Amino acid sequence: MNINKNYQNISDSYLFSTIAKKVNEFALSNPDKKIIRLGIGDVTLPLCKVVVDALKSASDDMGVKDSFRGYGPEQGYDFLKTKIQNYYCNFGVNLDLDEIFVSDGAKSDLGNILDLFDVNNTVLVPDPVYPVYVDTNTMAGRKIIFIDATEQNNFLPLPDKSVKADIIYLCSPNNPTGAVYNKAQLKAWVDYANENNAVILFDSAYECFITDDELPRSIYEIEGAKTCAVEFCSLSKMAGFTGTRCGYTVVPKALENGILNKMWLRRQTTKFNGVAYIIQRAAEAVFTPEGQKEIQQNLNYYKENAKLISQVLTKHNIWHIGGKHSPYIWLKCPNNMTSWEFFDYLLNNVQIVGTPGSGFGTNGEGYFRLTSFGSRENTLEAVQRLDAFLN
Ligand code: MLT
Repeated sequence: MNINKNYQNISDSYLFSTIAKKVNEFALSNPDKKIIRLGIGDVTLPLCKVVVDALKSASDDMGVKDSFRGYGPEQGYDFLKTKIQNYYCNFGVNLDLDEIFVSDGAKSDLGNILDLFDVNNTVLVPDPVYPVYVDTNTMAGRKIIFIDATEQNNFLPLPDKSVKADIIYLCSPNNPTGAVYNKAQLKAWVDYANENNAVILFDSAYECFITDDELPRSIYEIEGAKTCAVEFCSLSKMAGFTGTRCGYTVVPKALENGILNKMWLRRQTTKFNGVAYIIQRAAEAVFTPEGQKEIQQNLNYYKENAKLISQVLTKHNIWHIGGKHSPYIWLKCPNNMTSWEFFDYLLNNVQIVGTPGSGFGTNGEGYFRLTSFGSRENTLEAVQRLDAFLN
């Protein structure tokens, strides 16, 4: 056999695994030090009560002959898809049920969707960005070109008509910078994609953090998006499902005359057996009025954390963005430190773990990401440590 040599072109370990390894090593040699983890975007608040109730009652269903479920539809049960369909109506977006595909999360689908595209497509990726886009395409051997996201364009690059790309990744609110495209900016991307017969893979995993009604929460709020965009969303950050696993992907039938929708259905029915019934019932509960109220309380809690982090950075004149419509705060490392230097500096001196900006791309060098997903207690402690140390 021959191995896939493209794996030689990716770094040995995934960004967040590298960080976890470094932090574990530090913890082993400094057992007396309390480490505060504001690195990987993992939630800390427990699941909402309605979600837990739904998990329990669905578990009971599974123990009763009449309500027991075996294999479900690979693309998700209608009871959940209907709820997602109604959720999109809140943004003025109408979807057919067969355009919605329930999955175990956005990360898997963002990688799996590449099955649908020829290896010879050129991929356009903003730099910095969520490393999964680059790693998955590198594994497949696709040509990747980058578009600069910098302070000059507020980390929101716009299409360059002189560049020809076939597959475009956009993430808004952005991971890692927290920057959010407005409707006019997204329209520029949609027009570019339609004119170039390109597809936009739109990662909206953080849409629930948007509070400004003028900012788009789905790319389908933009005219023309259904003929050029696939959208990926997840309940991980929205409802604390990082360990529970559920997300959804929208593949409109207007895209490529329905061919991509059919291909994705074919791919999923062949390679995926659907999300567990119990989990889909829990996800359904998220979209009930009670569920929406409860998750909003959690989102507000994280936003308050973001505010606390932002305040201490402002106090110490550290340039930063994000945090407002996003759980991420993107800051410039003080004293011209590199991202990894600042990572070590914080870990060694104040035992705070963040994510080095350079892990998200070349333009991330010199920047650093902190998340607001910590507990309030830990966030306050981190803020106090930073305040004392940065003085
Ligand atoms: C992150 O920290 O960037 C995210 O947790 C990664 C992810 O959602 O997979």
